[in-house]
Formats: sequence, structure tokens, C-alpha cells
Amino acid sequence: MKTVAIIPAAGSGVRMGTAKAKQFLELNDRPLLALTLDRFQQCTVIDAVILVVPLMDVEYCRTSIVNKFGLTKVVKIVPGGERRQDSVRLGIEATGGIYGLVMVHDGVRPFVDSDLIERALDACHENRAVITALPANDTVKEVDRDGFVKKTYDRQYVWLVQTPQVFRYEDLISAHKEALSRGWKEVTDDALLMEKMGIPVKVIPGSEKNIKITSPADLEQARCCIGALSNPDF
Ligand code: C5P
Repeated sequence: MKTVAIIPAAGSGVRMGTAKAKQFLELNDRPLLALTLDRFQQCTVIDAVILVVPLMDVEYCRTSIVNKFGLTKVVKIVPGGERRQDSVRLGIEATGGIYGLVMVHDGVRPFVDSDLIERALDACHENRAVITALPANDTVKEVDRDGFVKKTYDRQYVWLVQTPQVFRYEDLISAHKEALSRGWKEVTDDALLMEKMGIPVKVIPGSEKNIKITSPADLEQARCCIGALSNPDF
């Protein structure tokens, strides 16, 4: 079965507080998104990549990221939607249904590696849906609107979910269509749609390195990981 990676990178990055969206900030003289895409370029089990970015950045991504860094596996660059779930759906629709497996990976997680991608894909040959996650080290509590603790979760069953996540094309497209027609909102990852559809989701170990760069503190951590870098916006 052929595998396509969908990379949602169409967020506006308001939490970062910089002029540029976080996926375009630079680490080691490269936009963070170029680093993420290069991980998929280098990984032999990935056949193609579909990149989803803000409409206004499609041409910039084509010339200054995909062409400039020789990311030949990127077969399409499509404009994203209002929410992450819209961006992923638009990416899936752009595949044309020619790939059996779909891997979804956040554009702002540049430290994914071939080992993680291959392990997730391998697991999807025996399972309908696979997610990567880390066991929680901290205690997780549910807090009400007034700031009081409502509930404490048993930590041994709490996992912090990352991407990549892998799905069968047919499952993912039908789950996203169902979400659209039923108005399911707050779909923060695609596995949630599988849960709603009654499809079992297998959890495999993620990677400590595979951080999501969301805040200035994350960018600082990424700088430490990658060494020297230049970033005029930060
Ligand atoms: O929103 P969150 O920080 O979880 O975003 C994870 C990924 O989803 C990021 O790479 C972001 O650019 C992408 N995203 C998107 N379209 C949106 C919102 C977020 O592709 N409308």
C-alpha cells in the first residue's frame, strides 16, 4: 500500500507572538517547516507529501521552501482551512484517493525521524489506526472554569499524544466527511474522529525529541536541540 504524508501547516501561530507564523520561523537558517518536510523527504517508506499552508503562503512555500530545499516528494501544496481539522480534510481530499495509507504530521514538529515514521507505519499494517504518544510524567487534572480541580486522572492510563498518526485512507476520509456533516468541532487530532467512528486506535511510543513548537519556550528548546540558529523575528 502506498503512503502519503499530510503535513498541516496552515495555522496562524498566534501563541508565538511573532510577525511570522511559527512554521516559518527559522532554525539553523531554514524555515522550521523545511526541516519537518525534509524528514519525510529522507524517509524511504513515504511515497508522497501533501503540504497544507495558509492561502497567502502557497507561493512562498513553493519557491522558498519546496523548490529551494529540493523537497521533491511534495506533490501538492494546498490552502488550509479555519481549524486544523479543516486543513487536514483539505489535504486528504487533495490526495485523489490513490494512497492506501495516510500519515498526518504537524508541520511544527521538526524533530520527527525515520525510526518513528517507520514504527508508526509498521504498526498500521496490523491496526486500523495508529497514534504515537508518551506516558504522562506529571499528574493530569481536569479544572473547572473557576479554577478548581474537578477530577484527577490515574496517571498510569494517561498518555500525551503526538503526531505522526497513521490511518487507512477510507477510514480517514469517511470520518472527516462525517465530522463535517454532523458539525463535530474541537477535533484536535484525527484519532478523535476514529474514536467517534468506533474504530480502535493503537497507541505506540512516541519520542521525547518530537516536540511541537507552539510557544517561544518551545522555540528556545528547539534551538538547544539543533544548536546555533538565526531568527530575525525572535
Ligand atoms: O493548533 P495546533 O498548534 O495543534 O497545530 C498543529 C498543526 O496544525 C500546526 O502545524 C498548524 O500549522 C496546523 N494547523 C493547520 N490549520 C489550522 C490550524 C493549525 O494546518 N487552521
